[in-house]
Amino acid sequence: MGQLVVLNHPLVAHHLSILRAKETPPYLFRQQIERLSMLLAYKVTEALPTEDCMIETPVAAMKSQRISARIALVPILRAGLGLVNPLLNLLPDAEVWHLGMYRDEATAKPVEYYCKLPADGATDIAIVLDPMLATGGSTRMAIMTLKKWGVKDIRVFSVIAAQPGVDEVIREFPDVSIFVCHVDPELNQHKFIVPGLGDAGDRIFNTQR
Ligand code: PRP
Repeated sequence: MGQLVVLNHPLVAHHLSILRAKETPPYLFRQQIERLSMLLAYKVTEALPTEDCMIETPVAAMKSQRISARIALVPILRAGLGLVNPLLNLLPDAEVWHLGMYRDEATAKPVEYYCKLPADGATDIAIVLDPMLATGGSTRMAIMTLKKWGVKDIRVFSVIAAQPGVDEVIREFPDVSIFVCHVDPELNQHKFIVPGLGDAGDRIFNTQR
């Protein structure tokens, strides 16, 4: 069953303040995205399946555990790229499958421009990576693509979301879980998250005009 998981923690509040502030330069913005991703990674991986394995420490043999699921990290280009490394550090055996989408400025609807998922062989779990969930259109398009691929367990991993977008995604996909650092209350007339953090892709890649 899907659920919304919001990470209430003093470290998250502290690092979100720096992330949101308009004077935060791109190098620090990228660091903050990575710090927050590491904290949120703890939640999104909490219920991963494990299996027993035998290991030998320098002192004795023991029964231990390892992750048993095949996991895909699915960054939505461009901004999702900023979330890949912290997740891959913690899940070094994960596969990374990219989806390219941008939001049309006039309509705020997502436009897909890249998808190279293999025709078969879906992973057990897919974690959609995108620092922003605004209207939820890009996330919904990614979820549909992953369902078509055959993924049964889809988790959305985002730093900031807007309540209307979260509501839409949960309504349409009650089996998908959303993990976020914070849910902001609304969108403005341009469909930007308020108060939000601006455009994450532009702030990560220093392409603000
Ligand atoms: C932003 C963001 C999400 C999307 C969120 O991407 O990174 O992908 O918009 O909006 P939505 O929930 O209303 O779909 P953008 O279109 O700015 O592309 P970029 O990552 O290349 O900057």
